[in-house]
Amino acid sequence: MPAVLSGRCHCLGKQTPSITIWRTFLMISITVKTRDGALRTLDAPEGLSLMEAIRAGGIDELLALCGGCCSCATCHIYVEEAPEALKSPQGDDENDLLESLDFRKANSRLSCQLTLSPELQDLVVRIAPED
Ligand code: FES
Repeated sequence: MPAVLSGRCHCLGKQTPSITIWRTFLMISITVKTRDGALRTLDAPEGLSLMEAIRAGGIDELLALCGGCCSCATCHIYVEEAPEALKSPQGDDENDLLESLDFRKANSRLSCQLTLSPELQDLVVRIAPED
């Protein structure tokens, strides 16, 4: 069921046109372990990349220098809990970049290449060491 928003203009005191929102986004809960061992739990809307969610959550140690273009590998994370995330297809570009990292593990992923979806609910990741 769509949500309808309407209100009154504060400047003119007139009714504003209503806006209909047809889609609601499921919020995905993510736990991020930072390099200093701190645990942060974030809620982010489905459709966002994991990198965007981590950055929006104020965790700046994930540099993401290329902005999600899959060309820098500074968004490297380890997926600790979420088997479905590991089964999602890893593209050749992502695999090539991961190959170039000293700290690659079996559960390594580039967070810009993971899109938040209901299957990733309660995902737990750890930010990899800086390469
Ligand atoms: S942000 Fe650059 S590869 Fe992910």
